[in-house]
Amino acid sequence: MTAVAAAPVRLARRPEPLARAVAMPEEGPLVDTFGRVHTDLRISVTDRCNLRCTYCMAEVGEIFRPRDEILTFDEIERVARIAFSLGVTAVRLTGGEPLVRAGLADLVARLSALGFADLALTTNGTALARLAPALRAAGLDRVNVSCDSLRADRFARIRRRGELGRVLAAMDAAEEAGLRPVKVNVVLQRGVNDDEIVDFAEFGRATGREVRFIEFMPLDSEGSWAADAVVPSAEVIARLAAYSPLAPVWRDSTDVAPATVYQFVDGGGRIGVVATVSEPFCGTCNRLRLTADGAVRNCLFSDDELSVRDLLVGGASDDAIARVLRRAVWGKRAGHGIGEAAFVRPVRTMSMIGG
Ligand code: 5AD
Ligand code: SF4
Repeated sequence: MTAVAAAPVRLARRPEPLARAVAMPEEGPLVDTFGRVHTDLRISVTDRCNLRCTYCMAEVGEIFRPRDEILTFDEIERVARIAFSLGVTAVRLTGGEPLVRAGLADLVARLSALGFADLALTTNGTALARLAPALRAAGLDRVNVSCDSLRADRFARIRRRGELGRVLAAMDAAEEAGLRPVKVNVVLQRGVNDDEIVDFAEFGRATGREVRFIEFMPLDSEGSWAADAVVPSAEVIARLAAYSPLAPVWRDSTDVAPATVYQFVDGGGRIGVVATVSEPFCGTCNRLRLTADGAVRNCLFSDDELSVRDLLVGGASDDAIARVLRRAVWGKRAGHGIGEAAFVRPVRTMSMIGG
């Protein structure tokens, strides 16, 4: 067994969620049976994408939801408003690729008006240079841009479509528009791009951008994920520390961001690692997700989901929708259980959930 498959999960998966045994509070914040309070909502605005990254989608044959099953901006805004009333403070817009959804700045403006403390977006960067000023004007705070190689030919191979130069220019444009900080998401795959770890660190040092190395997760459409393709974050940090000494960035106990952040001790830049697979952070997870077709999910890796779409379409009350959000969070399992014998890949892949 590889080191990754053998890595312990901090909280073991339980056969049945505790939700069946204990009473769900009808008021207060969005809490689960383990006391985790949920303040971070990730909203997927589309399952479509203009790229076909190898670790996410299939090259051909992806089937997208019919457009009439995708939530309208009115519906998304309504769920977000209800989530805000239940204590959600941070929203991230995801996809697929969120910027392929027409008029996204309009949705951003509506969400911004609700008053979230943090409104962010994850994008593949292809349309970002053009849209950054309008998104910023609408109230978007910041962006994470995916970029898995700094070599144009390899970038094109991994992402199957898309151009490195365009994505790098989009990062500059986003910063110019005031979408700061720009963070750079790098999905590492062993034997594919793990020889670029130091190059990315140097890129981060040169541009002042935080580069975040994300472990490859079993959410790709082609089912090609394997434990030995994962580059554990501890290895990333060890390799970077050999290049230049690193120290962890202090964070207080309320900061439950998935990335663990390090800083080069010479002051030259920050590195984040997202160790979803090798060192799960499920114990402090505060996230819930709304899929483009209106399902509320409490975990990337769990198929337990509840739909709010029928309620929205059927004219249900805010209370009824709030209750679905509460129930979705309440049913959350202790951990994702990747690496355990009982782990089953979720039916929905990354682009159907939103990262
Ligand atoms: N494993 C890890 N990260 C992934 N992403 C997409 N698919 C995977 C996967 N299988 C990333 C994208 C983007 C974010 C939304 O999720 O690169 O940065
Ligand atoms: Fe599209 Fe993002 Fe998936 Fe790549 S990772 S195919 S850019 S949704």
